[in-house]
Amino acid sequence: MTALDLSSPVAVVGTGTMGQGIAQVALVAGHHVRLFDTAPGRAQEAAAAIGARLDRLVEKDRMAAAERDAARGRLHAAGSLAELADCSLVVEAVLERLDVKQELLRDLEDVVDEDCLLATNTSSLSVTAIGGVLRNPGRFVGLHFFNPAPLLPLVEVVSGFATDVTSATRAYEMARAWGKTPVACADTPGFIVNRLARPFYAEAFAAYEAQSADPATIDAVLRECGGFRMGAFELTDLIGQDVNEAVTHSVWQAFFQDVRFTPSLAQRRLVESGRLGRKTGQGWYEYGDDAERAEPHTAEKAQAPAYVVAEGDLGPAADLLALIREAGIPVREDEEDHGTRLVLPGGGQLVLADGQTSVEFRDVVYFDLALDYRRATRMALSASQDTQPQTLTEAVGLFQALGKDVSVLGDAPGMIVARTVARIVDLAHDAVAKGVATEEDVDTAMRLGVNYPLGPFEWSRRLGRSWAHEILDELHQRDPSGRYAPSLALYRHAYATDKREGTP
Ligand SMILES: NC(=O)c1ccc[n+]([C@@H]2O[C@H](COP(=O)([O-])OP(=O)(O)OC[C@H]3O[C@@H](n4cnc5c(N)ncnc54)[C@H](O)[C@@H]3O)[C@@H](O)[C@H]2O)c1
Repeated sequence: MTALDLSSPVAVVGTGTMGQGIAQVALVAGHHVRLFDTAPGRAQEAAAAIGARLDRLVEKDRMAAAERDAARGRLHAAGSLAELADCSLVVEAVLERLDVKQELLRDLEDVVDEDCLLATNTSSLSVTAIGGVLRNPGRFVGLHFFNPAPLLPLVEVVSGFATDVTSATRAYEMARAWGKTPVACADTPGFIVNRLARPFYAEAFAAYEAQSADPATIDAVLRECGGFRMGAFELTDLIGQDVNEAVTHSVWQAFFQDVRFTPSLAQRRLVESGRLGRKTGQGWYEYGDDAERAEPHTAEKAQAPAYVVAEGDLGPAADLLALIREAGIPVREDEEDHGTRLVLPGGGQLVLADGQTSVEFRDVVYFDLALDYRRATRMALSASQDTQPQTLTEAVGLFQALGKDVSVLGDAPGMIVARTVARIVDLAHDAVAKGVATEEDVDTAMRLGVNYPLGPFEWSRRLGRSWAHEILDELHQRDPSGRYAPSLALYRHAYATDKREGTP
């Protein structure tokens, strides 16, 4: 089964933000496109808006004028659903309400041919539930584009419970023929991206609620240490707090209020107060010409330690040793396996975030996981009231000597980046084990859908087989709510090989 023939007309129903974007994609790929919207005049407005966007492409030399003219000639605003009768694909992008989508699909099924593929762009409803009203739900598939659809390459091709393999394959091939990168996934709350991305927001908000740090500091750590393109606070201000919270809420509800997806109280208060982000001029941050830019907390200059002692294998932070030496600070290696840590001249210890809290130890400073310790420009440290001032000073001075800004957080088990990455890795393993998608598609979806620097499986491979499980296990012991409970899939991944060789 191949993609749709370009001579096949495509219809887009619901011509708001997403409908317009999807229509533009199909149009530029070479299809005749029909637009339909129930709001009077909306389809014509959408056609004009798409035309204007094509004009801009021509102005920027990204499209030839003749190509634009031909595309315009293929775009048609329909006055009724009946005008969609000869379409081979109808994508609906109407209001995100189950009853509205179901009613539309029932009507559409009476209009189009038997072999017309029907698709929904829903981001949070069940594809199975929407298609359940059709006489032939086998022809119904989810085609989840991301906003703005003409620019973002990812499309999640979602198979509902009743979707035929041939329909899903047709939709997949069609997305590819339209220049997109499709990934196949099962009908699950949040599909791939919106399911696996939840901890990125939740862990940042939780760190704020626990008063570990303020939004600007947490965002800076996620960006400059974790390698994420944007921090969770600035990103949700851009998306809209109401929109982001609605996705979190719907995923949490759809998983029968699974504690791993619990929404944030702090974000709830923000939404209740109308601070929705950039669009209202206020969110986690203030916007507007005279708004003051919130700066991350950055530690004052401190004296670098004269030397460090490296004990054991630093695992994902092993690169630090070379960096410390390059900065001219001698590293004495202690082969004895006391643990995995750096010991500072005053006797205090510097340990990579492992899910334990610094209050459990006499004199420990934790440091966060970096995507790349060489390229990171900031490091987060976490100390407790029992940490000796000298230990914290030496730890700050050490990372400053490596050219990093340093943010000191309150006691924060799993810090910020480490627990965020561990939870994303866990959800990824869990999703693949449950047949949601392949490892490869999960990595593609998270890199393209939310711009993560690495896919969860690439990250997991870098960090080591049992890293995510170990840190979540520690966190789960300290917070037994279930929020950090590692999945069975992650446990299997971490320990399968060891167990296979042993005896029960
Ligand atoms: N906005 C996003 O970032 C985004 C991303 C991915 C998916 N989605 C999904 O895409 C869909 C549309 O979202 P949007 O942001 O474009 O919404 P929107 O509000 O911009 O547009 C919805 C359009 O649908 C029309 N409409 C409503 N009921 C209709 C009906 N019965 N028949 C025909 N037209 C009807 C409205 O008049 C409106 O023009 C939703 O399912 C949403 O979850 C949105």
